[in-house]
Amino acid sequence: MEIKKSHIVLIWCVNICRTILAVVFLFSGFVKAVDPMGTQYKIEDYLQAFGMLSIQHSIIPLLLSIGIAMLEFIIGAFFLLGIRRVTASLLSLVLMIFYTPLTLYIAIKNPVSDCGCFGDALILTNWETFFKNVILLICAVLVWRYKGLIYRFVSEKFDWLVSLYSCLFALAFCSYCLYYLPVLDFRPYKIGTNIPEAMLVPPGKHLSELQTVFLMKKGNIEKEFTVDNYPDSTWTYVDRRTVVVKKGYEPPISDFSMIDIDTGDDISQQVLSDSNYTFLLVSPRIEEADDSHIDLINALYEYCHANGYRFYALTSSPDDEIEDWRDKTGAEYPFCQVDNIILKTIIRSNPGLLLLKHGTILNKWSNNGLFDENNLTGKLDKIAVGQPSHHTNGKAIVNILLWFFVPLLFVIFLDVLLGNKLENQLEHEWNKYFNPLIKKKMRKKIVAGNWKMNKTLQEGIALAKEVNEVLANDKPNCDVIICTPFIHLASVVPVVDAAKIGVGAENCADKESGAYTGEVSAAMVASTGAKYVILGHSERRAYYGETVETLKPKVKLALANGLTPIFCVGEVLEEREANKQEEVVAAQLESVFELSAEDFSKVIIAYEPVWAIGTGKTATTDQAEEIHKFIRSVIAKKYNETVAENTSILYGGSCKPSNAKELFAQPDVDGGLIGGAALKAADFKGIIDAWKD
Ligand code: 13P
Repeated sequence: MEIKKSHIVLIWCVNICRTILAVVFLFSGFVKAVDPMGTQYKIEDYLQAFGMLSIQHSIIPLLLSIGIAMLEFIIGAFFLLGIRRVTASLLSLVLMIFYTPLTLYIAIKNPVSDCGCFGDALILTNWETFFKNVILLICAVLVWRYKGLIYRFVSEKFDWLVSLYSCLFALAFCSYCLYYLPVLDFRPYKIGTNIPEAMLVPPGKHLSELQTVFLMKKGNIEKEFTVDNYPDSTWTYVDRRTVVVKKGYEPPISDFSMIDIDTGDDISQQVLSDSNYTFLLVSPRIEEADDSHIDLINALYEYCHANGYRFYALTSSPDDEIEDWRDKTGAEYPFCQVDNIILKTIIRSNPGLLLLKHGTILNKWSNNGLFDENNLTGKLDKIAVGQPSHHTNGKAIVNILLWFFVPLLFVIFLDVLLGNKLENQLEHEWNKYFNPLIKKKMRKKIVAGNWKMNKTLQEGIALAKEVNEVLANDKPNCDVIICTPFIHLASVVPVVDAAKIGVGAENCADKESGAYTGEVSAAMVASTGAKYVILGHSERRAYYGETVETLKPKVKLALANGLTPIFCVGEVLEEREANKQEEVVAAQLESVFELSAEDFSKVIIAYEPVWAIGTGKTATTDQAEEIHKFIRSVIAKKYNETVAENTSILYGGSCKPSNAKELFAQPDVDGGLIGGAALKAADFKGIIDAWKD
């Protein structure tokens, strides 16, 4: 086949775009899944910026966070492996159509400073995000248009297994990081960080100027104040946040301060310079904290008290909430006020626990991953709890890659071992897009005769001999079948060359065997040496009451006895005039749609418009092609595109030597089922010759 340069360029473009989408979606889904609470906070920022306060404090941001993380990860995995190409390309297109205008708005209006599309792992400006999305949108459109050209790394046989594993992996990973802590920490307070060092400003650089803004309440009025206009005691404190007044050098940590709520003193320096251990119980909002492990936390405080270690609870909640917590839990430990965002940055758990020594973060525990009280058996430097954690981002990445890719590589290996040649699939897709003639060549070309109730036995044998003779001298370019009355089968089979002509019946019973007077079973047909059987012919439907239901067992029995069904469908004139042909044909196909894909692949379909049978009225080539194409699309929907592409669909209805060539030239017409013209060897041969170039 001649390969056009432009086609190669297109295949490369589609696969480059697919790779870009795979990498970006996998990365963005992964970093969101690693930190579902971080994504939740970002979504809350968005909701606040858009004034959607009612859902800002509901479960919705967290559910959205998990949903978006999983969706992006799954799309990325599908693109990477080349599976579920329709789903992946559609979802990526829908997401990019949503994200691109949204990020343009954000770039123009700046309601949030960082879009959060790559979590804390990679921070882009709002304009950078918008331009990134424009590129992704272009990729998504191209890939969606030419999804069939995405190279698959897993064959259709294992598609479901790999997609199921990708979905389960995304769900399990996201849940794990939510229940415990993010397995990768991209934030400034990761394990091993020395907080004072992270706050250092290199010589010659100036810090950003920051200002603390206090949200205060008086009656129903809420208002923001700074230290310069801090109001009198008629106002009560609600929340605080730090804003940048003048941008300068920003060290990884710039704003860590702990204000002792009893004395009002900033004790951060004392804590950070202490060479002994300090536990910090971190709770951004103490009123929202999970109190299920409170006994352990109280016991830990007592342990610290007894062993001379510091223990503070850090929160941004107002005093009355702290008092409520103390009443509820019996907490005796001291509380410090810390900025809410800093606390959310330090640990993704409410509450979470931090162990510091000399200002260095030795370990972090989520509320669900706390150690056991029985572990506190001695001084911290002697027991496991006091030892620095060996968790690093590098080790975590290796683990995650192993968990995700090793099972996938195993499946891909198995896939190849079972002989699924992926190149063949690409070739198949290639043909589907670019070469309608090659596409046809992949299916069987067939000319089948249907003698109906014509010819005595002697006449039939003579005709079969004649057909055999003309084909012996001139090799046919297609499969040739002759379907005869039952009575002829056993005599016709031996007189034709089985290598050139297949013999078939025109019907078989819907029962296996037994007291069904006048019927002929599929097994009996097969016992004559016949290989085919016409089922569902319009004449049998019209005159002998065959229905979708009665045909189902016939098809199954034919296949079970090794016969290839030539299954007929087609509409009557009134149905064509009412433009109902597609509906009718689709309903008739239900008789064969109970078969497995493997069994269906053995069936030949024949479309015969009843108004064209024996009437001399042939369907136009356009009419034939249109409905054949429709039949193929229905098969693709029911099974898959490969099955549809490999199914031979024959046309029947006043097909003659004079119109066969034109009909067979249609991309979806794979031959003919011939009535009247099959009763004369010369005419039949004329139709067979239509397949000759
Ligand atoms: P004609 O070719 O005679 O129209 O018949 C078509 C047919 O019914 C084949 O099964």
